[in-house]
Amino acid sequence: MKPFYVTTPIYYVNGLPHIGHTYTTIVCDAVARYRRLEGRPVRFLTGTDEHGQKIERAAAAEGIAPRELADRIAASFRELWVRIGISHDDFIRTTEKRHAAGVREIIRRIEEAGDFYVGKHEGWYCVACETFYTEKELGPERTCPDHGTSTEWRSEENVFFRLSKYQDRLLEWYRQHPESVRPETRRNEVVSFVEGGLRDLSVSRADLAWGIPFPGREGQTTYVWLDALTNYLSALGFGQEDDALYRRFWDDPAATRLHLVGKDILRFHAVYWPAFLMSAGLPLPTSVWVHGWWLRDARKVSKSGGNLVRLDHLIERFGPDPVRYFLLREMAFGQDAQYSDEAFVERFNGELANGLGNTLSRVATLSRQAFDGKTPPTVCDDNPLIAAAAEAVRQYREAMESLAFHNALAALWRLLGEANQYLVEREPWKLVKEEGASERLSRILWNGLEATRIVATGLLPVMPQLAAEALRGVGVADLPTSLDALAWGGTPTGVPLPDLRGLFPRIDKDAYLADVTPAETPAREDEDDAMISIEKFFETQLKVGTVLAAEPVPKTDKLLKLTVDVGEEEPRTLVAGIAAAYGPDEIVGCQVAVVANLEPATIRGVTSQGMVLAASVDGRPVLVHPGEEVPPGTQIR
Ligand code: MSP
Repeated sequence: MKPFYVTTPIYYVNGLPHIGHTYTTIVCDAVARYRRLEGRPVRFLTGTDEHGQKIERAAAAEGIAPRELADRIAASFRELWVRIGISHDDFIRTTEKRHAAGVREIIRRIEEAGDFYVGKHEGWYCVACETFYTEKELGPERTCPDHGTSTEWRSEENVFFRLSKYQDRLLEWYRQHPESVRPETRRNEVVSFVEGGLRDLSVSRADLAWGIPFPGREGQTTYVWLDALTNYLSALGFGQEDDALYRRFWDDPAATRLHLVGKDILRFHAVYWPAFLMSAGLPLPTSVWVHGWWLRDARKVSKSGGNLVRLDHLIERFGPDPVRYFLLREMAFGQDAQYSDEAFVERFNGELANGLGNTLSRVATLSRQAFDGKTPPTVCDDNPLIAAAAEAVRQYREAMESLAFHNALAALWRLLGEANQYLVEREPWKLVKEEGASERLSRILWNGLEATRIVATGLLPVMPQLAAEALRGVGVADLPTSLDALAWGGTPTGVPLPDLRGLFPRIDKDAYLADVTPAETPAREDEDDAMISIEKFFETQLKVGTVLAAEPVPKTDKLLKLTVDVGEEEPRTLVAGIAAAYGPDEIVGCQVAVVANLEPATIRGVTSQGMVLAASVDGRPVLVHPGEEVPPGTQIR
């Protein structure tokens, strides 16, 4: 069987895992589990991206060493993956020795190919992307086109990679290998980007301490993306003494090498990475497969966006599998999807509790009643569900192979629907009373159990724990180890059936929705005492600002429009509800505490870029000041 290698992107350690990271990882897990069932030798890799300025700065903001931050965040990624049943074979951290060995080896090969040179690098740098932009690529006021945050001008001597040399070979690759970048629309996007002309890429940084020293180039540190992308090889032993895994999962022409990535990192994976590999004379990925974003309020869910979806609450309350199911069912793979608590409850109640849970408990309960606590004694090999199951399985497999999980799950639920229809038409609940343990009843119930068994088998890659439970619930004691189990006929006859009612207890929708507190809204009164973690606290950026100007906001006697210097290039405009207690003149020159990473809000036609903190004394605002004058922009922690 051909080896199958599947990777998640490695995650930055400047913040805790969120729905985006979780989604990519669950997708890879479902792929890995499916391919294992198919009998392929699978290697599934995930890990953390720990070098670079972004991490350096996040650590500095906390007053700790980058290593300490990386250790803590990498541990929380690992913990979450265990909690949600991720079956990765390896977890790589770019700060590991084995990784540095791989990076040195790829650099040595590219150097040997003559594809590096030293040149001057100038441009507008976005630390969040770790990327230089040209003036014309920037957004308004020289902001990053991706993040919308300010960029900084940089000019330094760097090592350059001759990316331009690979333009034609890349285009040839996309042309000859339709599966190189998927879905098709993303491949077209990449092709037109490359056709537009490739500039050589700077692959070292002069002022970066936190990274892998660039071999043979004194004072230069390897650019984080060259460093990070190489994880896919270094985790397999590339450039190390024992490279057996590398030879098996990367170098073998028969191996499938699949990188799963979100659309924001498409260019790095579909242009830079294959070009590095071409230069180093190494095999290319089979596929870079791209998914969309989880959005909330029409914006990408992200740490810096402050609109996180609290998956941990969902996992705590419902267990990992319903969350896995929901994410894979709700997002049409490749497109963006909106997260909503309401949709979660609806899918849970409609598809898991009603669809799967009820069908399972109905047939199992009737079988237990009629057949002495056991599965029915007779199998049935001639009935309409056989063809329905074969068709559902065909669609399921096709969809799983093209990562269309939503379609794969829909196909299984169609089979459930057919099974229900079959039962409704034959009314076994009446037959139990009328006929007792008859041959006819045995066949009908066995068919119901069998269709449910096939659905549960198909669910193994998606909901590993609950699918295993459901299988137990139809009398299957040993978990299937092959996709052959999707064929009609596997439910054992006359074996004891456990009572599994309540596998998917319905959620009381109104009570639940009233209870969930979206992360971006303040805690409710009764949660005032709830503890938060230090990481959560650090998600809020508090800074000292000096008020430069103040004026009343027209048509209200509560609001002042303040111009506040928070240590940035431009002062910010902030709207503060303090006019009843402070006059404009009184406040100019004062230092105040500012929430600096609050999403902008337009209040009475004025856009406020943050919030000024005040104590509230019976509703009267009392501003909070630092104990002595400090430079504007000083962090408050
Ligand atoms: N460290 C780089 C990847 C290096 S791979 C050699 C990185 N890390 S990341 O932590 O910012 O993002 C990792 C993945 O999470 C990306 O695939 C990204 O698309 C995905 N997501 C982050 N936010 C997302 C959503 N809101 N929705 C879906 N996925 C998104 O990039």
